[in-house]
Amino acid sequence: MQFELQNVEKFYQMSEENKVFGAKDINLSIHEGDFMALVGPSGSGKTTVLNLIAGLILPSGGKLFHAKNEITSFSLEERTQHRLEYMGFIFQDYQLLPVLTVHENIEFPLQLKNFAKKEISERVEWALEQVGLKGYGKRFPKQLSGGQQQRVSIARAIAGKPQLILADEPTANLDTKTAQEIIELFKKLNQDYRLTFIFSTHDQRLIDQVKTVLYIKDGQIIETKKH
Ligand SMILES: Nc1ncnc2c1ncn2[C@@H]1O[C@H](COP(=O)(O)OP(=O)(O)OP(=O)(O)O)[C@@H](O)[C@H]1O
Ligand SMILES: [Mg+2]
Repeated sequence: MQFELQNVEKFYQMSEENKVFGAKDINLSIHEGDFMALVGPSGSGKTTVLNLIAGLILPSGGKLFHAKNEITSFSLEERTQHRLEYMGFIFQDYQLLPVLTVHENIEFPLQLKNFAKKEISERVEWALEQVGLKGYGKRFPKQLSGGQQQRVSIARAIAGKPQLILADEPTANLDTKTAQEIIELFKKLNQDYRLTFIFSTHDQRLIDQVKTVLYIKDGQIIETKKH
């Protein structure tokens, strides 16, 4: 067992009588090697669920576990450390730091994890090779195409060898051909290293390729489909 959500809910108290639900009664187990997508209309709670799993927001009710540890009982500092140790993140808009080179962007979270210098550069080289960008380390993000930038952000996410990768609409900004290539890369990483992925997406191309689809509506998982 990797990650588990038990009766998790998140609401936003907008006024005394107006509660907005971001997530409601979420029960979900994420195991090693899972390749799953949260699918639902805009505002259905996809990002909220990812943020809850990441410990970026705390639930209003319910519990989250990683192995035997209850994440919901962690302090802010412990949650930050836990996230750094076990999770990698991929975003729709890549979120690379423009003033850092490709190499430095990938290196950055590894430095926060206090790896030795040699291990950091080995991991960066390994990650760049995995995403097909060997030799691109000295470039800056703006000197790359959107697809290449997303590959850099994937390299950054995998370089720390996380247990779980959370990807919020990772193909939304990419053209069909590039999106297809990025999806193939996710599949390869999942197959070769049993890297666990949970995506949020509207992208049918990605939905067709995942092993599990979680349909979410008004903050609730209403259906789970296995491919
Ligand atoms: N900080 C906040 N304060 C109040 N309401 C919020 C907040 N964050 C999210 N919500 C509400 O929670 C619900 C779920 O939002 P969320 O961002 O998780 O949806 P989503 O499925 O990711 O949508 P999209 O496809 O547009 O990214 C929405 O009704 C949203 O308005
Ligand atoms: Mg979202």
